[in-house]
Amino acid sequence: MKRAQKLGVLVSGTGTNLEAILAAIAEGRLASEVAVVISNKAGAPALERAEKASIPTRVIPHGNYASREEFDQALVAALREAGVDWVVLAGFMRLITKTMLDAFPNRIVNIHPSLLPAFPGVDAQKQAFDYGVKVSGCTVHLVDGGTDTGPVIAQRAVTVLDDDDADSLRKRILREEHALLVEVIGAREEGRVEVVAAAGARTRVRVRPS
Ligand code: GRF
Repeated sequence: MKRAQKLGVLVSGTGTNLEAILAAIAEGRLASEVAVVISNKAGAPALERAEKASIPTRVIPHGNYASREEFDQALVAALREAGVDWVVLAGFMRLITKTMLDAFPNRIVNIHPSLLPAFPGVDAQKQAFDYGVKVSGCTVHLVDGGTDTGPVIAQRAVTVLDDDDADSLRKRILREEHALLVEVIGAREEGRVEVVAAAGARTRVRVRPS
């Protein structure tokens, strides 16, 4: 039994992960609805993708706010107004604060283009390529206050090929990101994502098989 989620998708850039979610919804592979797409950058191509799919968009420029908390308060207000119950950071290039975390406890996920905890932060694919790893990939994780530090929900590995450069690796990882993000949203719809918090231990996320 699928439980449709009202998703709020936060973006800063191209929006191919957003597009993957929208395609999965349009094709009936996901039951959720994207209730709002919010960008911290005006003119982000992701906004155009949302508009084409008739999804309401908001631009909330972080530079208009004196602090991260105030920016997050504006995000929370916009997400609440849209009735969002689950937040997806899809190429959203801002760190979020307790204000957002408290408003959506264990309900914010991020997609990151490496196998965390390796290569957090920006340019993860180039970091991995420059390091010379043989396997990289992508991670969907719950968001906490750190940079790509939250509990891992799911990962996909991508082999680094001898003739790769940072860009070809980035493209192959991106394809897996699209699939992984849709997979995790689907698992959540089916109630298969379980957060296991135990005193003194790192919070874990279990995804039960379908
Ligand atoms: C993706 O690689 C994502 O993992 C990272 O930023 C990129 C966003 O791509 N956080 P897109 O905007 O979804 O095309």
